[in-house]
Amino acid sequence: MADAFDVIVIGSGPGGYVCAIRAAQLGLRVACVEKRATLGGTCLNVGCIPSKALMQSSENFHETVHSWKDHGIMVEGVTIDLARMQARKAGVVSANVKGVEFLFKKNKVTWLKGEGRIAAAPGPEGLGRVTVGGTDYATRHIVIATGSESIPLPGVAVDEKRIVTSTGALELDAVPKHMVVIGGGYIGLELGSVWRRLGSEVTVVEFLDRVVPGMDGEVGKAFERLLGKQGIKFRLSTKVTKADSSGARVALTLEPAKGGAAETLEADVVLLAIGRRAYTEGLGAREAGVATDERGRVRIDAHWATNVPGIHAIGDVIAGPMLAHKAEEEGVALAECLAGQAGHVNYDVIPGVVYTWPEVASIGRTEEQLKEDGVAYAVGKFPFTANGRARAMGATDGFVKILADKATDRILGAHIIGPDAGTLIAELATAMEFGASSEDVARICHAHPTLSEAVKEAALAVEGRAIHI
Ligand code: FAD
Ligand code: NAI
Repeated sequence: MADAFDVIVIGSGPGGYVCAIRAAQLGLRVACVEKRATLGGTCLNVGCIPSKALMQSSENFHETVHSWKDHGIMVEGVTIDLARMQARKAGVVSANVKGVEFLFKKNKVTWLKGEGRIAAAPGPEGLGRVTVGGTDYATRHIVIATGSESIPLPGVAVDEKRIVTSTGALELDAVPKHMVVIGGGYIGLELGSVWRRLGSEVTVVEFLDRVVPGMDGEVGKAFERLLGKQGIKFRLSTKVTKADSSGARVALTLEPAKGGAAETLEADVVLLAIGRRAYTEGLGAREAGVATDERGRVRIDAHWATNVPGIHAIGDVIAGPMLAHKAEEEGVALAECLAGQAGHVNYDVIPGVVYTWPEVASIGRTEEQLKEDGVAYAVGKFPFTANGRARAMGATDGFVKILADKATDRILGAHIIGPDAGTLIAELATAMEFGASSEDVARICHAHPTLSEAVKEAALAVEGRAIHI
């Protein structure tokens, strides 16, 4: 058996690699097991980073073709070199994953290459063991950070060429004539937008009666309308029951969600994006006695400890939003707990951002949730049409919406649809972490002309005193 570690983290995604680095910073001997050829997990290899690289490239193309002439910039004959666009994306991914490798070296985290399997739980007395490539490594603590995988749909067989998950949708070597996206959530709308901007006809088939369920209803409606204006077609309250890829095109069988007459829709590429599920295959967690919930997610307590002493879990493999920054926060907090400190994550203040154009960002509770919780609230809203900078940018679609407690004025939720919403939400995250009232934000001096003034004005609007509307 090799030398003992204090912590072995299994999985090097944003949860795992951040946990490993923080634990090493705190003086623990740390190893991180990764079976992929590169570090960084789903997020850096086939998720957040490559998708945002393509979002940016496709947005640049769309802007050049559609918006520049409004600025008096006349360009003609703009074409796409998709191979080059994909090569750029690969370069962005490569730089990011190598960055994690560098950080591991810098912090003396050992990368154990291969599939990790829990051979023995640490238990109260002895060391636990993790097997990687036939070698057993002893450790005081094991952290499960094995992430998630896309959920399959019966009758729709993924080949990653014509019927793809997000991974295949990031690798297409031609712009499909018609892309059908199954699932109007984060992946469907972001990657649907990428291919729409590059010229595909895009139809989103969504089981529910609205896109991105869970999003504030008013924002969701505006979002659907704005994406519709960009040419994305929606088939809401509809399900796909079969995909036949034996012909030149894929033939999808669609039915109303509640059942009814079937119809056929043809596609050149089908993107299956109906959610992701916890991934624990081959890990040996079940054999070690680690309890999971009804959705296969590892059960944890308030300190990310499983029911088996010495085994912990973070990130997509446990409950909560499947977001990289949520996994990272858990990674840091758990490492601090393992080092004897008091790690903490405030799950009430985790932003969610859809990186489409316009972006949609939200934090805290939606209006629907506040109603359900019986909380009396006040709404402050400010449209980007009334923001000077948004006008100068030619990006006036959308608004900032702040929800504050009617009695105390404390901010309970914030929802932004508009330019740079993902960056703007950080101010409201900070405010909420500090328990701020809408008046606190309204009294902060915001530089002019900036998009952030829309946040201030929405805060002013909570008490009906916005200046510019
Ligand atoms: P993962 O990143 O999934 O990492 C788990 C790692 O564990 C993998 O590398 C896997 O190979 C490894 N592993 C699994 N089992 C073993 C084993 N037994 N031995 C060794 N290694 C193992 N989130 C955002 O916040 N913002 C975004 O913009 C965003 N965009 C996304 C776009 C796409 C297309 C997708 C699919 C996801 C996106 N996400 C985004 C979600 C984000 O990627 C996840 O929330 C995040 O990666 C979860 O991190 P994690 O550390 O829990 O797991
Ligand atoms: P999702 O949960 O965001 O959306 C799935 C959608 O599919 C939902 O609207 C759901 O109602 C619908 N659906 C479910 N079953 C269906 C069916 N049979 N037919 C039609 N529609 C169906 O999941 P998605 O988009 O796959 O993404 C997975 C997760 O990855 C996200 O929830 C998010 O946590 C993460 N992610 C985050 C991103 C970001 O932060 N910007 C970007 C991409 C992914």
